[in-house]
Amino acid sequence: MKFKNILVTGGLGFIGSNFINFLFKNKQFTPNIVINLDKQSYYSNDDNIFKDLRDKYKFFKENINNRKFVRELLEENSIELVIHFAAESHVDRSILEPDEFIRSNIFGTFQLIEASKDYIDSNKAPSHFKFLHISTDEVYGTLKLEEDAFTEKNPYRPNSPYAASKASSDLIVRSYYKTYDFPSIITNCSNNYGPYQYPEKLIPLVINNCINEIPIPVYGDGMQIRDWIYVEDHCNALLTIAEKGELGEKYNIGGNQEIANISLINKICEILSSYTGKKEKIYKDLISHVKDRPGHDTRYAINNHKILHNLDWKPKIGLDEGLSKTIKWYLNNPTFLKAKSKSMRDWVNKNYKDR
Ligand code: DAU
Repeated sequence: MKFKNILVTGGLGFIGSNFINFLFKNKQFTPNIVINLDKQSYYSNDDNIFKDLRDKYKFFKENINNRKFVRELLEENSIELVIHFAAESHVDRSILEPDEFIRSNIFGTFQLIEASKDYIDSNKAPSHFKFLHISTDEVYGTLKLEEDAFTEKNPYRPNSPYAASKASSDLIVRSYYKTYDFPSIITNCSNNYGPYQYPEKLIPLVINNCINEIPIPVYGDGMQIRDWIYVEDHCNALLTIAEKGELGEKYNIGGNQEIANISLINKICEILSSYTGKKEKIYKDLISHVKDRPGHDTRYAINNHKILHNLDWKPKIGLDEGLSKTIKWYLNNPTFLKAKSKSMRDWVNKNYKDR
């Protein structure tokens, strides 16, 4: 890969940390240095998960809003590629406490772009410098059952403060490409799952609640549909786009695995019971329908045609395989969920108490 000096923002988050691990696990990538810039928050993984990478990896605890700091970091490390994951990402939190979503996702992205633009304008950046902005399919809003999957041409119709903040940041990136030739690409991915995901999100929440035998809260009738992608497939798509993607373009990324929440939850109960030896019924009896999420999107679905045909990428890991890997990982790493239990308790009190 032509990019050797890489800045990852939000590299302690779920997708960011999987990305750094993926980058080093795959021998064809051989980076010189990966800088992880992360503000560290309740959902962050411990920097120690990268302890084997020390000579090729540096961590900085800092906010992307600190433009001066980022500007210096870019130059000091001769950064060639920025992969911008850093974002507040939980829809329910954005409904209860939207401020941080606006600050981090919109203003943070703006500051990061400005720092990168200054690095380019001062002729310190290499000519092949690229900025990859990692976004979500939620910017497109919701689909009816009979509607076609989202393509890159779908209009932006965000329905939650989170989705609106990501849509805004996408538009800032786009405007910098159009106005200043800022060398950027936008990616919009569907729901990720896999190791190291904080248990406020549906899949690890269900695993956690089954393990602890506490109720599984299903919003509304549970018939909402999501398209799930195993996080390594997403990471692989991002490296493909970094290498072969065209500047100023956007690429949708999806797993081709649409499923209703309630069917997914039942599937998790079944796979988990095959590993723990406990009866499926014990887990399935935990399912409890609760008041729906306000503005809840009914369905997301991704049309992968562009990345498939232009960049020759496709997802490799099916839902059953990905779920098995994920469930096994959570069972084999009980300290991960234990370490999150206090912050999760606070969140459960806030989000689920009156449902
Ligand atoms: O589509 C990509 C997006 O997927 C990402 O950009 C977001 O960061 C990510 O959080 C995710 O958004 P969702 O709202 O789809 O993910 P979440 O895991 O929160 O919920 C998945 C579905 O499960 C959704 O229909 C809501 C439902 N749900 C979720 C929770 C936490 C429940 O029924 N009960 C719950 O307790």
